[in-house]
This record gives sequence, structure tokens and C-alpha cells, in this order.
Amino acid sequence: MRVLVTGGAGFIGSAVVRRLRSQQAADVVNVDRLTYAGNPDSLPGLSADDGYCFEQVDIRDSHELERVFREHRPDAVMHLAAESHVDRSILGPEVFVDTNVLGTQRLLEVARAYWQELDSRPLADARNGCSAREQFRFHHISTDEVFGDLPPNAPAFVETTPYAPSSPYAASKAASDHLVRAWHRTYGLPVVLSNCSNNYGPYQFPEKLIPLMILNALAGKPLPVYGDGGQIRDWLHVEDHAEALWTVLQCGTVGETYNIGGNAERTNLQVIETICATLADLRPASPLEPSDAAKKPGLCPDAHSGGRVFAPGAYRDLITFVADRPGHDRRYAIDSTRITTELGWRPAHGFEAGLRETVAWYLDNTEWVARVQSGAYREWIAENYSGRADASL
Ligand code: NAD
Ligand code: TYD
Repeated sequence: MRVLVTGGAGFIGSAVVRRLRSQQAADVVNVDRLTYAGNPDSLPGLSADDGYCFEQVDIRDSHELERVFREHRPDAVMHLAAESHVDRSILGPEVFVDTNVLGTQRLLEVARAYWQELDSRPLADARNGCSAREQFRFHHISTDEVFGDLPPNAPAFVETTPYAPSSPYAASKAASDHLVRAWHRTYGLPVVLSNCSNNYGPYQFPEKLIPLMILNALAGKPLPVYGDGGQIRDWLHVEDHAEALWTVLQCGTVGETYNIGGNAERTNLQVIETICATLADLRPASPLEPSDAAKKPGLCPDAHSGGRVFAPGAYRDLITFVADRPGHDRRYAIDSTRITTELGWRPAHGFEAGLRETVAWYLDNTEWVARVQSGAYREWIAENYSGRADASL
């Protein structure tokens, strides 16, 4: 089987590619434009793998997509390429509509033309008597954010929860979900969809909550908590998500949607405090020590903390309440009953153990981190955080 993965150099896409190749489950064609979020370093060792091929292609480029389908003849598509960060979508929504909506529509059209040309005679080696056309799948990977804000005691999102996206990112993903369903209903394209909760784990770009907090804490910088930090997310380890996606692609019913969650609702403050406690355990002598801080002018606690001085290892003291995100959803939670009962998937990682592993990964992979924290990353941090006054001062 050959799978065309879009966004395979991103956080979740790279976990899917590593999963498929390390277990030799399928050959992979990775179609990725390599935006700021795409990173070939997240796919170590694959350049020498015969079952892996990389195509630096923008999903908005129909001609290039046609070439890729023609040359590689995939049996399935796993579509993960997207602009994915809510704060960026608030400061610059257009590229979200462009990539997530228009890009998805272009990919759907190229996939449809390709699928319609596939052989409809039963494959000689097919145990189920299926044709290449019947076996083809387009798996669209989406988010729980399409369902919007969940009241504190309301039951978790199910597959039929009405869409109510809050941010430009969530709205663009909701639009792309609708397009995928329309291509199934109107043209018969054999699609499956999945909507997942917040992912964490290795190789996540440090603009998102968990890696941002780990790396800021290590650098002695403030840990910027939006609003009161009481917002709730349902955390899933990225490797559990990759496993779920492969399960949905192989076993999901055409036209259906599967919600994927970690059964781990935590407030942002709980997550940040757990990171601080883990760091205090794994890296008690931190850059917060005055002697170290003095050696690193840009990282001096005083330069970032309004004069507050921190004891060594006191990562918790870096927690800083800042202006809230506009339109901030208070709670997300996923009901994974369907994928669990119908497809037999369940998460293997507990949240606290998975988070500890993740913190350790960032401590061990300083080269990956250093390369990711380029000039462009620093510009983003300045753009997103400079306008958020420190609410605790
Ligand atoms: P990411 O931002 O880490 O990676 C996105 C990848 O897409 C990058 O490699 C980037 O280079 C590529 N890309 C962006 N625009 C492109 C374009 N026009 N053409 C080709 N490639 C392009 O994102 P992620 O966190 O890995 O998320 C992957 C998918 O999963 C997204 O569709 C996202 O909406 C969804 N999702 C993410 C989460 C999460 O917690 N991160 C949760 C649920 C669903
Ligand atoms: P994020 O990782 O951006 O994911 P999403 O917005 O898709 O859920 O943010 C997770 C939560 O953490 C969200 O409630 C916003 C919050 N947050 C902060 O409080 N401070 C930060 O600096 C960031 C990046 C996020």
C-alpha cells in the first residue's frame, strides 16, 4: 500500500510518517510545502528509506498535485497539511482560508480525478474482491475545535455535535470538513474523517502551549498564561493519534467521522504546573540560577520578569498571567466511544507519564530545538506576546 501524506513534515504528519515507515505498514509519499511549521529534521533517517519519498509541493498547486498523483499512484491520501495555530489565525487569517479551505478543495479535485480513473475491475490479489477504485480512501484529519466552546458540565463532543467554530483557524477547518463531506455526497469520493483533541509529544513546534512552556521555563522566561488559565483541553499523545489515524484509514466506514480524544481533560494551569514540577525534578539546576543568568544576557530573569528574582529550579514562579486570546474557547472534550467500540482503538499513553516523556524529549533534543528556534520563530514570539501586558504586574 502507498499512502500520500500531506503535511508529513509537521508535528502530527511526521508522527504518522514515522509510524508507517518504522512498522513498514505502508510506503509513504510526503507532500509538504515546508512552511515555518514543516521540518525535515522531524523525519530522521528517512532520506535513505526506499519506501519513503518527499515532494516539496504546495497543496494549492493543482498542477503539481496532478503530477504527484500521476507519478506515485497512491492507494490512499491522509490529508494533514494545514495552517494550525489559533493565535496566528487571529493575527493573519487569510493564509488559513487559503491553505485549509482552498488547498483542501484543490486536493479534493485532484484526488477525485485520479480516483475516477482508477481501475474498477477486482484486483487480482484482493482478498475481498475489491477494485483499486473501491479500495481508494481520502482521509481528512481535522480538529475538535470545529465544535466550538463546551460549557463546563456539558457532555463531551460526539460526531454529531453541531459545528460552532470560534477562531479563524477553527472556521477554516470546519469549512474544509464540509468540503470533504460534499465531495463524498456529490461525487462519491470514498472519504473518512476524524476530529481530534489537542495533541502533545515530541517534535511539536514551540508556538503551541506545551513546548512553549517547556522551552521558556528552561530559558528562565515568563510562562504566559492567557486569561485565568482555567481553559480546559483534552490532551492526546501524538503517537496515540497516529495509531488512531491508521486505524481509521484501514477500518473506518466510508463517509463516516470518528472523534479521537485522550480522555485527559486538564486546565492550562494544571498542564503548566505539571511541566514546572517535572522540570524541577529532571533539571533542578536551571538557567534561573543567578550565575547562569548572568552568563546569558538575553535570558537574565530580571530582563523578562519585571525585576522578580527566582530561586534555582523554581519554574513555577515564572507563571505570568497575560491578556487573554480573543474569542478563547473555554473547554474542549472528546467522546471517543465510537472509535473505541467500533474500531477497537484506545490511547496507550496516560497524560502525566506522556508529558514527562515529552519534557525529557525536549531536554534531550537540544539540536532540534536550536534549529527550530530560528529568526522567524523569534519574530513570531515578539509579534504574539509583545502586546499582551503582564496581567500580574
Ligand atoms: P503543523 O502546523 O505542525 O504542520 C502542518 C504541516 O503542513 C507543516 O509541515 C507545513 O509545512 C504543512 N503545510 C502547511 N501549508 C501547506 C501547504 N499549503 N501545502 C503543503 N503543505 C503545507 O500541524 P499539526 O499540529 O501537525 O496538525 C496537522 C493536522 O492535524 C492539521 O490539519 C490540524 O488542523 C490537525 N489537528 C491538529 C491538532 C493539534 O493538536 N496539533 C489537533 C487536532 C487536529
Ligand atoms: P494551543 O497550544 O495554541 O492550542 P489550541 O489553541 O489549539 O487549543 O493552546 C492550548 C491552550 O493554551 C489554549 O487554551 C491557549 C493556551 N495558551 C496559553 O495560555 N498561553 C500560550 O502562550 C499559548 C501558546 C497557549
